[in-house]
Amino acid sequence: MASNRVGYIGLVCLLITTVIAASQRYHDCVQKKNVAQAQEECVRYLGIPCARLAVYNDYIYPNDTETQCMVRCMGINLGWWNDIQGVQEPAIRHYFHPDPDDAQHDRRTYHCLKSQRLDNPTPHADACERAYESFRCYYEQYGNIVITPQFVPLTPLQLSDVLLQCADILQFPGVESGACDTAAKPSERDIGCLARCFLLRSGLYTDQHGPNLDRLYVQCNNYANETRFRETTSVCYQQLKSECQDECVLAGRFLRECFDEGGLAVQITVLSYENRCRYRIYHCIIE
Ligand SMILES: *[C@@H]1O[C@H](CO)[C@@H](O)[C@H](O)[C@H]1NC(C)=O
Ligand SMILES: *[C@@H]1O[C@H](CO)[C@@H](O)[C@H](O)[C@H]1NC(C)=O
Repeated sequence: MASNRVGYIGLVCLLITTVIAASQRYHDCVQKKNVAQAQEECVRYLGIPCARLAVYNDYIYPNDTETQCMVRCMGINLGWWNDIQGVQEPAIRHYFHPDPDDAQHDRRTYHCLKSQRLDNPTPHADACERAYESFRCYYEQYGNIVITPQFVPLTPLQLSDVLLQCADILQFPGVESGACDTAAKPSERDIGCLARCFLLRSGLYTDQHGPNLDRLYVQCNNYANETRFRETTSVCYQQLKSECQDECVLAGRFLRECFDEGGLAVQITVLSYENRCRYRIYHCIIE
């Protein structure tokens, strides 16, 4: 019996590792993960006994410090938790599926978060506990856990990396020499091609279908009304598409003109590091 159980747990760990290996075959820099994959990684990172993973894989989360910190790790891993800003709603919502007949799930979740003051940043409280209680609110009030992998938003550093790699790949003026100040001023098309590479590589856009609104909403994070975000972004894109023949110019204008609330721009302000080259690239795209 005991050895059976150990064998079973070993098999569970093996199966999960296989799932993770299979799930890494995504294009460009796009990452998709589900709760089970993130849990398996976090159990390893935090040195939690593997037997515990079997419990988490039944989606049971005992209220203890170890589990609370595992949930926080899972949230960071999946892009729905940040110690300073708290729970990232657009990202966490993808991991829960509300009952179609349940019109109150949003309201109940909001009340659950609000009653524990988890709806605004309180960085001094224990981060593991806050992440755990936030997760519990969604799990108990919002819907069932979604088991298919979901888009994990890129961190500001990853976005910055994607942009710099694109600049390198496209031999963007000034990047190869590191001498931004003396480099020829890039043309609008150069800038557009850089923007296009950035959007393609981060998985937020394709030439064929335009913006991926599901992913953009999660990536931008700071649009309160998803319906309005989808409408305005898609109308803006369609308008530009009817005006632009060139794929680079279209992508460049899309990035510059379709985020009036500062969605993606806010996300990539990290590019304005002290590093002058980065700043220049940032400047080119935003202005
Ligand atoms: C977890 O335990 C803490 C401390 O005992 C308690 O305050 C909190 O309400 C518990 N959370 C849940 C979801 O049961
Ligand atoms: C979101 O925007 C849509 C379309 O602009 C509007 O109809 C709806 O009332 C808005 N929802 C909220 C909660 O403000």
